[in-house]
Amino acid sequence: MAFSPNKFITEKTKELQQKIGNQKALIATSGGVDSMTCAMLAKKALGNNIVILFLDDGLMREGEPDEIRKFFIGVGITPEIWDVKDAFFEALKGKVDPEEKRFAFRDTFYRTLGQAVRSYSVDFLIQGTIAADIVETQKGIKTQHNVLSQIGLNPANFGLKIVEPLRELYKHQVREVAKKLGLPNRFAERKPFPGPGLATRIIGEVVPDKVEKIRKATKIVEDTIRGASVFQVLAVLLSDKATGIVNGKRMLGDIIAIRAVESKDALTASPCRIPWATLFKARDRILKEVPGVVKVVYDITPKPPSTIEYI
Ligand code: XMP
Repeated sequence: MAFSPNKFITEKTKELQQKIGNQKALIATSGGVDSMTCAMLAKKALGNNIVILFLDDGLMREGEPDEIRKFFIGVGITPEIWDVKDAFFEALKGKVDPEEKRFAFRDTFYRTLGQAVRSYSVDFLIQGTIAADIVETQKGIKTQHNVLSQIGLNPANFGLKIVEPLRELYKHQVREVAKKLGLPNRFAERKPFPGPGLATRIIGEVVPDKVEKIRKATKIVEDTIRGASVFQVLAVLLSDKATGIVNGKRMLGDIIAIRAVESKDALTASPCRIPWATLFKARDRILKEVPGVVKVVYDITPKPPSTIEYI
């Protein structure tokens, strides 16, 4: 049977009201379609009994805190924005192993959320886990940070009671629900972005100046490489250096990989056949606007064997 976003919204609204009633819930939003949809669903179901929190962890896309603030104020909610950059960079310091980095992110994320739950005296945490997160965690492909029970974390240890209203949906269905809930296209059609943010797009240690570079490159590839067939587009900062020539002199500089994939549900993916002219545009802007880059490559690997993100 075809998916009906209206029916889904009616059912989930009722379910949230039954589960949470007059108690308070917190929704941590990253600006991504899943968490924004959860926030709108919670607003519809619970009215003023919600706290919208944005953790400014320093690993988000350009301009994110302002976008979020503006949007929610426009729909009548003042979001809480916590500057927690230092805590995240401290946790990631010195870590180069992908799993250690994911663990450091996850641990800091849930510890901080636990603090928020206590400080706002909320009873529930509403999370935007979707079906693909669950399937991939079950298969052990990624220790997705947002499927706590599956990765052996007990939400109670973080002081959290968790509700996941989108857990049966795939990304394209979430987008349909998002639009019905009134989210503008800039959120509803936004490219997926992982919870650990730009940390998944830096090979090796995650430090603020590398994040700044990859944040700029991310904006450039998202601006230039568009189109209905692009499920996700990303830029990755590799850990090695390459030889370049700058102002006639040899110099060792950074290597950035561009990855653009077609996919329906993120479980499998294939590289997009981007026109050279578009790739060249992205390359030129990266070389000009991201300091220290001497090489830009395009990743042609499908998933599997590669995953979409690099860590
Ligand atoms: P991978 O890299 O596993 O990504 O092929 C599949 C999809 O999931 C996103 N992704 C994540 N999402 N937490 C998330 O919420 C994470 O830890 C995470 N890691 C990857 C990725 O961007 C892609 O859309």
